[in-house]
Amino acid sequence: MSKVNILAIESSCDDTSAAVLSDGVVLSNLIATQKIHEQYGGVVPEMASRAHMQNIIPVVSEALKKAGIAKEQIDAVAFTQAPGLIGSLLVGACFAKGYAQALNIPLIGVHHMQAHVLAHFIDDPKPEFPFLCLTVSGGHTQIVLCKSHLEMEVLGTTLDDAAGEAFDKTAKMLGLPYPGGPVVDKRAKEGDVYKYAFPISDIAGYDFSFSGIKTAVLYFLQKGKKQNEHFVEENINDICASVQHIIVTTLLKKFEQAAKELGVQHLGIAGGVSANSYLRQQFEAMCDKNSWNAYVPEFQYCTDNAAMIGITGYYKYLKEQFVDMNISPAAKASWDG
Ligand code: KG4
Ligand code: ZN
Repeated sequence: MSKVNILAIESSCDDTSAAVLSDGVVLSNLIATQKIHEQYGGVVPEMASRAHMQNIIPVVSEALKKAGIAKEQIDAVAFTQAPGLIGSLLVGACFAKGYAQALNIPLIGVHHMQAHVLAHFIDDPKPEFPFLCLTVSGGHTQIVLCKSHLEMEVLGTTLDDAAGEAFDKTAKMLGLPYPGGPVVDKRAKEGDVYKYAFPISDIAGYDFSFSGIKTAVLYFLQKGKKQNEHFVEENINDICASVQHIIVTTLLKKFEQAAKELGVQHLGIAGGVSANSYLRQQFEAMCDKNSWNAYVPEFQYCTDNAAMIGITGYYKYLKEQFVDMNISPAAKASWDG
């Protein structure tokens, strides 16, 4: 039997990405990151859609070229259906629909958060089931229980800000560029995690709240600046390390509690914030302590990328979970077909 070749498109926020996978193996994964948003300190939706329109054809062409696959060899097109910025999603959805219709092949709609979890199934070793995943991105914070590739249950989520937002907003308050996560991570490497104590939010069950950390940092900086106008510049590394410490501790405390209560042995972290070096280190230490198997995706599969859309598309292809061409492609995405 010939291999299943999938072209995957991701355009939910500010990265235009295309990947080609053959039987679930990544042949190419290209990402065009939109630099234009840096000067505004956050993603400007209208500019993101326009940049996707400019990028999508060159990125797809390059992904096919790099994979050595002709368009006639593609068996299905997978694309991010939701969640995301509507204008950005529409560019990917319309492109994918047009491409699939022209080639007369199936179209597969993918839920972006399910794809972040399934990024764990790109490389070896692949997690065993049941698998518990902490998905932490710019817009979401979730504890997800996976019973199989496509059977997932969200056990906990954030009640307000996402973990990535806590990083980005802290960076903004400190005058650091967007996106803040990678910059705070870098600065924190030179700082003392115990220099400043921030309160840990404790929500019942498996939910999270990060708006309290944001407010605590705001008041802390206002007080510091009142006493010394150079407070931020002089202490920026320690502030980054201490804030990062409280965000990571909050995430892992709940994740550890969930794994213990559910008796799960296979744990992973996913999403943009899982690129954080301190989270990766503390997560591995937590798993070591409890004799759990820890799974951490490669850096390129943590932040938004089309390879994760492709691997999800592959599992959906095997189950023949296709999108009806007659409905609006960016309408809605479900976790289970
Ligand atoms: O998954 P992602 O690329 O996009 C969304 O689906 O939101 O996640 C983006 C988020 C941003 O908030 C960014 O600051 C954060 O991931 N991020 C990090 C790191 N790299 C990216 N946060 C902390 N440390 C990092 N190294
Ligand atoms: Zn994402």
